[in-house]
Amino acid sequence: MKRYLITSALPYASGITHLGNVVGSTLPADIYARYCRLLGRETLYVCGSDEHGVAITIAAEKEGVSPRELVDRYHQANATALAGAGIAFDVYGRTTDPLHIATAQEFFQSWLRKGLLVEREDDQFYDEEARIFLPDRYVEGVCPNCNYDKARGDQCDSCGAYYNQLELKQPRSVVTGQTPVVRRTKHWYFKLDAFQDWIHSYIEGHAPSWKDNVVQQSRSWVKQGLAERAATRDMQWGIPVPVPDADGKVLYVWFEAVLGYISATKQWAEQQGTPDAWKTWWQDPETIYTAFLGKDNIVFHTIIFPILLHSRAEEGFILPEQVPANEFLNLEGQKFSKSRNWAIDLVQYLRDFPEAQHVDILRYVLTMNMPETKDSDFTWRDYQARTNNELAAILGNYVNRVVQFTIKNFNGAVPARTAAEPDEHEQALQSAITHGIESVARNLDAFRYRDALTEAMNIARAANKYFNDTAPWKAIKEDPARAAHALNVCLQTIRTLSVVFAPFLPHAAAAMQTAVGEPVHTGAPGTTQDVWTSAGVALLPTGRVLHEPGILFTRIEDSVVEEKIAQLGDQKPSEPTEPAEPMITIDDFMKVKLRTAVVLQAEPVEKSKKLLKLQVDLGTERRQILAGIAQHYNPEQLIGKTIVVVANLQPAKLMGLESQGMVLAASNDSGVLTLVQPSDVGIGPGAEVR
Ligand code: MF3
Ligand code: ZN
Repeated sequence: MKRYLITSALPYASGITHLGNVVGSTLPADIYARYCRLLGRETLYVCGSDEHGVAITIAAEKEGVSPRELVDRYHQANATALAGAGIAFDVYGRTTDPLHIATAQEFFQSWLRKGLLVEREDDQFYDEEARIFLPDRYVEGVCPNCNYDKARGDQCDSCGAYYNQLELKQPRSVVTGQTPVVRRTKHWYFKLDAFQDWIHSYIEGHAPSWKDNVVQQSRSWVKQGLAERAATRDMQWGIPVPVPDADGKVLYVWFEAVLGYISATKQWAEQQGTPDAWKTWWQDPETIYTAFLGKDNIVFHTIIFPILLHSRAEEGFILPEQVPANEFLNLEGQKFSKSRNWAIDLVQYLRDFPEAQHVDILRYVLTMNMPETKDSDFTWRDYQARTNNELAAILGNYVNRVVQFTIKNFNGAVPARTAAEPDEHEQALQSAITHGIESVARNLDAFRYRDALTEAMNIARAANKYFNDTAPWKAIKEDPARAAHALNVCLQTIRTLSVVFAPFLPHAAAAMQTAVGEPVHTGAPGTTQDVWTSAGVALLPTGRVLHEPGILFTRIEDSVVEEKIAQLGDQKPSEPTEPAEPMITIDDFMKVKLRTAVVLQAEPVEKSKKLLKLQVDLGTERRQILAGIAQHYNPEQLIGKTIVVVANLQPAKLMGLESQGMVLAASNDSGVLTLVQPSDVGIGPGAEVR
């Protein structure tokens, strides 16, 4: 029998997990896990705290506590907050747990034994003020390839180039802002390159069933060619490298945190009193493993983690089957930012809205706005509208009307059905239910949460329509048996709704089930009874006594959301909020000389996916310009086009070729890029653009 292993990316225990993390990872995983359990599938949902890495030490320093104190505090706080949001993990482990440390060290030793680690001394940037080496994201500078000035230590977000961090121009420490020095240091490098062919076929084998964003990112990494990657870091806080003479060396957080899924499963197995039970979840081909995460974690779960698991294939370690990554969530049109107080803190939300219905409301609004294929936006107005117009007006109202009517007219017990053939209204409802349950399932199986939830709400819409069409308040006077039958159907439908909404709205589902006297099934851990398959069947017996559920969803007033909106960015009233982009003077602008140019030649640049080499006529001279537009234009298409270039840009070398200027192009968040072109090409080359 297949069993379902589900993980969501381990939140850093450096602060309260923000809504972006919830919507991207823990919530979709929870909905999926609940759905699996409601189907009677053997299911394990594993998550926990990521407690190592520079993210932790920097946060600890800021708060003036030790890393240990910090992770203890936030591990607990996040476990509580996530549980408060109805996220029902089977286990919420920690990467400081001795079981995890032993697991990670054991993996490291197995790589040593297999010759997968190379020990080598290398130069690295070092921050003398913070007294730390600066890996990856902790150093920024000017891209050696395209001159983008916020390039990261190992990769440029602008042109996509990968390089050794020492090639960065004007490097600065992200920690202190200081210019780092270069120091020599010893590390263990994991031979990812030894798995180039294997990972290629793993990804291509899964590509047909993976989301587009996941396939694209994974492919582009593999295509650049995997290189050796340092699996260790110079730090005090972390998992010690388990070899002699490795003082001050710890495992690189990404090479151990992903193993946290395995060790959290071990923690779970120990708590169950069956310490070996983790093996059936991680080393048995009957397990189907789905890893949930945000887009910034994709390659770690489609490349690094699979390689680490495959490195021990002989022990039967399984691999991620599905990696449904989400994009990012914005708030009121802007990126979440804790420092600018442009955020919704889960703990604060639960404090402001302590009623259970607000947990469901949050889950509903987040799911309806889930960034499944592109970044999406959370707004308080939408939060209000969806609560009032959907949850309260459709679902809550339906349950309330049906139960109240039954209490008033049928003594609060399920009235009898008639033997007559279903009328057209009942047929319509029945087909909406059959189709709806099937669609919710199909969409959840494909990780299309918005569609799944919309389909669930459509069943509630059809139920309201049935109630209106059969008009029991009239029928009760003319033909009480017909009214009784209609109410029986309506009550059965409450049970149906309670099952299909359970993965999304566990509190409302429990309230509906209690109202119709059913045992509560919301797909919580430890339950594996299949209630999904019979969700559409009329199982409530005649005479079953109802329990008044109270109002499921109360309307949200304008004043509430107005206050929430006003609080954003509001923490420090004395400091004016910095405009997103600083203003410049006209003189600043005039320093940039923009001119029209006509493209004479265009050709691809060898070994570059992004760059095209252009020869352009600038009126008075001819220039060679490298432009990162290869993914948007064919070279032939460009020849003869009149475009706009920055004419007074210092020449730069890209991929060993000189670029004497820059072309202007407009691009948006959806990845559309288009060259800026004068509307009248009669203007010719060399015209000044102001
Ligand atoms: N803590 C990381 C983040 O928040 C995610 C770690 S996922 C794991 O980005 F697999 F490494 F655990
Ligand atoms: Zn670049």
